Amino acid sequence: MSDDSRPSPAGTRTAAVIPAAGRGVRLGPGAPKALRALGGTPMLIHAVRAMAASRAVSLVVVVAPPDGAPEVKSLLDAHALPERTDFLVVPGGDSRQESVKLGLDALPPDYDIVLVHDAARPLVPVDTVDAVIEAVREGSPAVVPALPLADTVKEVEPAGEPGEPEPVVATPERARLRAVQTPQGFDRATLIHAHETVTDDVTDDASMIEQLGLQVVVVPGHEEAFKVTRPLDLVLAEAVLARRRLNDGF
Ligand code: C5P
Repeated sequence: MSDDSRPSPAGTRTAAVIPAAGRGVRLGPGAPKALRALGGTPMLIHAVRAMAASRAVSLVVVVAPPDGAPEVKSLLDAHALPERTDFLVVPGGDSRQESVKLGLDALPPDYDIVLVHDAARPLVPVDTVDAVIEAVREGSPAVVPALPLADTVKEVEPAGEPGEPEPVVATPERARLRAVQTPQGFDRATLIHAHETVTDDVTDDASMIEQLGLQVVVVPGHEEAFKVTRPLDLVLAEAVLARRRLNDGF
């Protein structure tokens, strides 16, 4: 369901904020995760292109490592990006939440839909991006792409020491669970209100909206929108890129 033929309806403008300030410790030693190469191109550039691929997105705000904004600016300058899209780079903070807030602070006033997309999900297809935007346009203040789970999930009492056996507390019904991806899409005013109000630690932006008591909805995610977290994910990402090159010369 690509939105190619339909840019923004009158009065609706969409920006994407990409938090890319994490160190990516779980990926092993090396450069900040977002700057590592996939198929010879930094992961962050893939993520930026994935957002800019949607004709509805006219601004991408990249939240760089706190001391890395100049480096990220040069990186964007050095890679081909769509001319119809504007780009901004701002320095990030100590937590993902803080980095997203700094990205929101940099948004010009005339954007009323905001996507928040992890740099660590470089390969999300444009159809997923467009599906999220469409659901926000249709009136949902918060929209997340998500997939059903293959694994059964256990809630545990976390062990004090790594590797210690952990007592199981509960087994949620798998059919009701979803693994949540990004981009998550928001009505801009609602997301800004959430960032000003919710101070608990969260792992995604939609949970802040839930804490406000507002409805978050899920739309179908995509298996290629997985998060590059561990070394094996890099192998999978390279394989996806190789398959795309074979299929469509991407
Ligand atoms: O750590 P996690 O994998 O949840 O990070 C998700 C995204 O948030 C990554 O793209 C990472 O670069 C970003 N992040 C950030 N600022 C931080 C920590 C993480 O922008 N302080």
